[in-house]
Amino acid sequence: MAVPPMTVVQFENGPTKSASSPRPSRRETLSARERLIVALDVTTREEAVKLVEELGDSVEFYKIGHELIFGGDGVALARELVAAGKQVFLDAKLLDIGNTVERSAANIAALGVTFLTVHGHDSKTMRAAVAGRGESALKLLSVTVMTNLTQDDLSEQGFEMTSDQLVAHRAKLAAGSGFDGVVTSAREAALVRQTVGRDFLIVTPGIRPAGADIGDQARVMTPARAIQAGADYLVVGRPITQAEDPGAAARAIVEEIEQALV
Ligand code: C5P
Repeated sequence: MAVPPMTVVQFENGPTKSASSPRPSRRETLSARERLIVALDVTTREEAVKLVEELGDSVEFYKIGHELIFGGDGVALARELVAAGKQVFLDAKLLDIGNTVERSAANIAALGVTFLTVHGHDSKTMRAAVAGRGESALKLLSVTVMTNLTQDDLSEQGFEMTSDQLVAHRAKLAAGSGFDGVVTSAREAALVRQTVGRDFLIVTPGIRPAGADIGDQARVMTPARAIQAGADYLVVGRPITQAEDPGAAARAIVEEIEQALV
């Protein structure tokens, strides 16, 4: 079957820095705008491009997950966003045998994206990802416990640990495996910060500005509270992507982060 040639979109309003420009590595150097990661949870490339163009300079960091990877040329879009000076979090949530994870991480590192997720169930998988990213600038994040899972869901999976215990256990495992940080609910951010120390990155989804619809998330927090709890980056999807004015919603969250940083 012939594959149609892909249209390369030139995003307007992108900063001029190149994909290889140095990334701030210490949390102190991050601005409020850099701490907001917008989840491009749409199923088509057209919708994603429309959102990125609408958000313009208000947003610098995008998360591309399974929906867009499989439905909207998400990997190609990641490459284009990087070329346009944006940062990309490829939320691929890898989990497989070591050889596969290592080679996948190497391929993903070559895309020039900033963050990649790997399920943090075991150190074997995580060490394979560390080997795969090699000397590249790719930062590896372990997914601790999905933010939509309740204690009952964990019991169903056979875990006797509480959600907090499992998060702390997996955060330690990730740090010991050479990972740069974790993705965890904002409600567990303070616990993770205590467990793994100051320089480990904490990226938190499940963010809801006061009064926003919770949707299917079980453990949510406002942007300000998440930053105060020790989060470095906030992943926000529906409160921005489904807002009447996504740009205004993003700017309001950046403002809230800014206030919380002082
Ligand atoms: O729309 P909402 O703000 O709830 O989107 C949260 C995003 O963060 C989704 O893309 C979801 O896949 C992702 N995520 C999560 N919990 C995790 C890891 C990722 O909600 N533990």
